[in-house]
Amino acid sequence: MAESDPERAPLEVLLEAPPAATRARGGSAPASIADRYGGPLEVPLHPDRPTLIANFVESIDGVVALATGPRGGGSDISGSSEPDRFVMALLRTIADAVVVGAGTVRSAPKHEWTPRAIAPEWQAACEKWRASLGLAPQPTTIVITAAGDVADGHPGLTAPDVPVVIATTERGASVLARRGVPAGAEVEIVSNGEIVGADAIVTLLRRRRVQLALCEGGPHLLADLLDGGALDQLFVTLAPQVLGRAASFTRLGLAEGHAWEPGTARWAEIVSVRRARSHLFLRYAF
Ligand SMILES: NC(=O)c1ccc[n+]([C@@H]2O[C@H](COP(=O)([O-])OP(=O)(O)OC[C@H]3O[C@@H](n4cnc5c(N)ncnc54)[C@H](OP(=O)(O)O)[C@@H]3O)[C@@H](O)[C@H]2O)c1
Repeated sequence: MAESDPERAPLEVLLEAPPAATRARGGSAPASIADRYGGPLEVPLHPDRPTLIANFVESIDGVVALATGPRGGGSDISGSSEPDRFVMALLRTIADAVVVGAGTVRSAPKHEWTPRAIAPEWQAACEKWRASLGLAPQPTTIVITAAGDVADGHPGLTAPDVPVVIATTERGASVLARRGVPAGAEVEIVSNGEIVGADAIVTLLRRRRVQLALCEGGPHLLADLLDGGALDQLFVTLAPQVLGRAASFTRLGLAEGHAWEPGTARWAEIVSVRRARSHLFLRYAF
């Protein structure tokens, strides 16, 4: 059964590694946010290149999606968890850009990748925090597509105050030119190959002066970023349900499309654990 959290209690901090002694993004959030999160949220920044973090929700058995279509993503996995939406809003708030794969965009035909869209009740506090950090009013949405399959009428990609970049291949750009792009969106050819590799994404972020980017999936994009060694931190919400797998059901895991041997898999260090009832909020650094 999905949990609700009517009291909006502060997240319980079970583990918090000491902050890194480097430049960081986040820090002094409005008191309402810091009280709810259980302290400051800071992400250390690389001095010389963009920092890339990701945020996912998964079941106990590692399922992040029940389908690749318009249902079966985040809220079915989290049980529409309010604390999960809160943490998503915080991460969007401190990011210069939110990076999503086109499959995730297709699975959310009305969603906008902003703090206000995921947690409207925290909009005022998030906007105040962004302003105090000197960030643009909204993070830029960066959509990664090889095939250029991004609906030109997607309402979450047309808000006048949300910059949108569609990063694609030569093939994708010609499809987009033919079919049309969301009003105001920029199309950038960042690859002349079959996909947009992790290096091309990092180069794009650097060119756009992005210091902190948040990848919100999906699992194929995340796997490409992990395979390219581009991911710095991973925030994972563990939702207390077991979904299972069977041949007749679509089930996607956290990373899809790449499989690593034990000797080459990326190992991470846990840096923070929080709890809201039976949901765990895990944060790993690579
Ligand atoms: N639980 C969670 O936290 C969470 C988070 C995100 C998504 N989801 C769910 O995951 C499901 C979608 O999974 P998915 O793996 O299909 O998502 P995805 O990685 O966003 O989509 C794959 C598609 O994105 C584009 N893409 C991804 N990586 C690319 C790369 N390196 N270069 C070029 N294009 C790239 C391609 O689009 P083109 O086909 O246009 O080339 C590819 O077909 C949905 O149900 C969604 O709700 C869950």
